[in-house]
Amino acid sequence: MLQRQVSQQAVSSAEAEQLVRLQYDQCKLVLDAEDFVDLNIRELVSTKNNRLRVKNNGRSAYAKKIVPYYTSESRDFLLAHGNCIEAMPEFNFKFDMIFADPPYFLSNGGISFQSGKVVCVDKGDWDKSITPKEINDFNMQWLSLCRDKLKENGTIWVSGTYHNIFSVANCLTSLGYKILNVITWQKTNPPINISCRFFTYSTEFIIWARKNPKIPHKFNYKLMKQLNDDKQMTDVWRLPAIGRWEKSQGKHPTQKPLSLLTRIILASSEPGDWIFDPFSGSSTTGIAANLIERRFAGIEQEKEFCIMSKDRREEINSADFRKFLINHIVDLKNKVNVSVPSEVNEQVIDYYSPIPFE
Ligand SMILES: C[S@@+](CC[C@H](N)C(=O)[O-])C[C@H]1O[C@@H](n2cnc3c(N)ncnc32)[C@H](O)[C@@H]1O
Repeated sequence: MLQRQVSQQAVSSAEAEQLVRLQYDQCKLVLDAEDFVDLNIRELVSTKNNRLRVKNNGRSAYAKKIVPYYTSESRDFLLAHGNCIEAMPEFNFKFDMIFADPPYFLSNGGISFQSGKVVCVDKGDWDKSITPKEINDFNMQWLSLCRDKLKENGTIWVSGTYHNIFSVANCLTSLGYKILNVITWQKTNPPINISCRFFTYSTEFIIWARKNPKIPHKFNYKLMKQLNDDKQMTDVWRLPAIGRWEKSQGKHPTQKPLSLLTRIILASSEPGDWIFDPFSGSSTTGIAANLIERRFAGIEQEKEFCIMSKDRREEINSADFRKFLINHIVDLKNKVNVSVPSEVNEQVIDYYSPIPFE
């Protein structure tokens, strides 16, 4: 919000910085030079009409077909590099569960406060704001493709904020899915609101829906109750935002916490099940799935996030690192028994059953 006002007045990045400082002074925040580091992400290209204009790098080039990028030794983690909308029709496989963390389309040049720093709300070209109609068309497209990839008793979980979640809910319903719950994830440590003109944003939503309104879905009711001190688990989950301990291979700008993904997967699948994520990012879904003995296939369009995913997956070949992660994940530490093979070759590798792609 502040950034947008600044964009309309400044004629140089130095002047933009000065204006931002002035705005923050009104909120009585103390800032120093390094707080502005991320304001330089966007390049000043012209000052036409006395406005600060920024360079738009354009959208990434998408691969035409599915391009397998990485398969773990134990064949429980497959990653393809490409655009999920083009890649999904290229393989024929039905998954037990899908988790999707699609673009929220909220990178509009605003600023927010993260880890004690002012940062530009610029997650990447894939997250740039587009019109409501474009958001809706995009959601219809990928949600329809996902429905084809689900088993008849399969379920899908889709995360979002108000920017995209209402569109997602409408698309799910019009495509014939049945919405089961809307989980409110309340972050126990949300970033502060720097404008001091709104309540602090501390929640995200995750819609859980099943493919077929008439076919029963998997729900590990007893386990969820056990995880909630023997009381029925509600649709409000108080879980921390992403922690330092889960950024060992760098940080994806919208990386989801392992505690959140672990709970989702524990709730709605069984060991051995196949989980799919069309917007894999750093593959948090895959890491959580493999830690609790599920199999994973994902698609990611940005090479740098494919690399991060592969590195994260290889890291959990080490029994010690698996234990380290398990000891940080809210529902796993001291609550659910997870077997940790001491070496990757101690895992049972099933070379015969079909896999989604290779
Ligand atoms: C919100 S992030 C997912 C973050 C992920 N949940 C994690 O924990 O790392 C969305 C990801 O989808 C990717 N993406 C966006 N559009 C895509 C598309 N059409 N096909 C495949 N990947 C896409 C982006 O590059 C980004 O990494």
